[in-house]
Amino acid sequence: MKYSLYLAALAICATEVVAFPSNMFHVDMPEEEKREIARIAARIEADAKKRQVSVPGLPGFDASEQYVSNTGDHAFIAPGPNDLRGPCPGLNAMVNHGYIPHNGVATVPQFIQGTYDVFGMATDLAAFLAVYGAVFDGDLTSWSIGGPPPAGLLSSVGLLGTPQGISGSHNKYESDVSPTRPDLYEYGDDYKVIVSQFEELYAQPLGPKGYDLTALTPFRASRFQQSIDNNPYFFNGPFSGVAVQPAAYTFIYRFMGNKSAEHPDGYLDGEVLKSFFSITGEPGSFTWTEGYERIPDNWYKRAVGDEYSIPYFQIDLVAAALEYPQFLDVGGNTGKTNTFTGVDITNLTGGVFNLETLAQGDNAICFAYQFAQQAAPDVLKGLFLTITAPLSQLNDAFAKVFAELSCPQLKSIDTAQFANYPGSKGAY
Ligand code: HEM
Ligand SMILES: *[C@@H]1O[C@H](CO)[C@@H](O)[C@H](O)[C@H]1NC(C)=O
Ligand SMILES: *[C@@H]1O[C@H](CO)[C@@H](O)[C@H](O)[C@H]1NC(C)=O
Repeated sequence: MKYSLYLAALAICATEVVAFPSNMFHVDMPEEEKREIARIAARIEADAKKRQVSVPGLPGFDASEQYVSNTGDHAFIAPGPNDLRGPCPGLNAMVNHGYIPHNGVATVPQFIQGTYDVFGMATDLAAFLAVYGAVFDGDLTSWSIGGPPPAGLLSSVGLLGTPQGISGSHNKYESDVSPTRPDLYEYGDDYKVIVSQFEELYAQPLGPKGYDLTALTPFRASRFQQSIDNNPYFFNGPFSGVAVQPAAYTFIYRFMGNKSAEHPDGYLDGEVLKSFFSITGEPGSFTWTEGYERIPDNWYKRAVGDEYSIPYFQIDLVAAALEYPQFLDVGGNTGKTNTFTGVDITNLTGGVFNLETLAQGDNAICFAYQFAQQAAPDVLKGLFLTITAPLSQLNDAFAKVFAELSCPQLKSIDTAQFANYPGSKGAY
């Protein structure tokens, strides 16, 4: 049975090569890698299905399954001078403990497996995030969790320049209003922790689960206002602002929280937070060491069957936006601080979305993803010689996401209004 499926898959590949001979002349994800992704996803999903919890966040607890090793093969190893680290504490910690390659450049399957093994990220979310990275910040198969990788590490066939990694993906991936990282145009970098921002995070009044969403969401509102007050080029982009910015907050509790029988949905205390953010010392005199993010001793990830998925993330995203409607206010400062102006969403989307209904149903996340999809061809023209392969890979990833959501059909976008925002470069 397996053997014949394999032959069928080969036959499909052979047909594709015949149908699209141009694939041979530019970079594309190898068929073997596509099969690898499907295999990993199937294995993880089959495991998860056995114990799928009916209410997200209310799983059981199984210490042996959820314990995440940080010893032996997974002992902490500090980054060397040529190793890449960047704005994402989760990925930095995974790399430092050998769950993805130590140099900081990994393939899509490695990101999917690693985020599941360490954090219990669902395969739908992981596959989307990883493919998006591979297309916009990498060479379609691999990407760097920091800046541009050294020459020779990624394929250069079909690329117009060196892939910039996620540190170099401002407005495409990397966003303003990050919890601990600076706004790019305010500080000139977007990945080095600003200790005062961590101090503020650490000083939040704790919720019932420690640094849970009741602590993190008001902190996000405060950070949002700081960008309005201090960054003349603040831009709350349709994708980076609406979909990436909330992840940078919800991931802190949803993934870093320590799961236990007492708190199956996780409790996040200050020590675990410091470990994942590579912070030492005491409040008032914290120190950040670049690239030393660690998985704490005796730490437990999300339960099997309770993976953090796109629909789960969408619930968190909307809850935050209902409390703080400004989060969905796409727009920014117009060149001076305190000049925040929202775009007219109706104009931007040809009437398909409007600000009044953006927080309803799946609209917000639909808008963010559909905007990114519509904007992709233009962005990709600056990255690849021909955009057929990257676009088809990206559209595959989007199709899988849209299958899980109910989205109105966005047909075109009109980005003329973005000219008012000097910080919007890279968003379309
Ligand atoms: C393939 C999967 C992932 C990708 C592509 C990814 C990518 C990114 C990117 C581009 C940023 C910068 C966003 C910004 O500017 O604010 C970021 C930030 C962040 N990521 Fe990830 N990430 C992934 C997985 C994870 C995981 C598993 C965690 C688990 C804890 C995590 C936690 C965070 C946090 C907390 C931030 C905000 C950091 C800060 O500003 O303080 N991410 N990630
Ligand atoms: C996680 O929770 C368990 C059970 O309460 C506890 O034994 C362990 O020390 C905690 N881990 C961390 C890193 O706080
Ligand atoms: C929106 O479109 C209408 C009709 O084309 C135009 O009159 C209006 O100025 C536009 N508004 C913005 C903010 O671009």
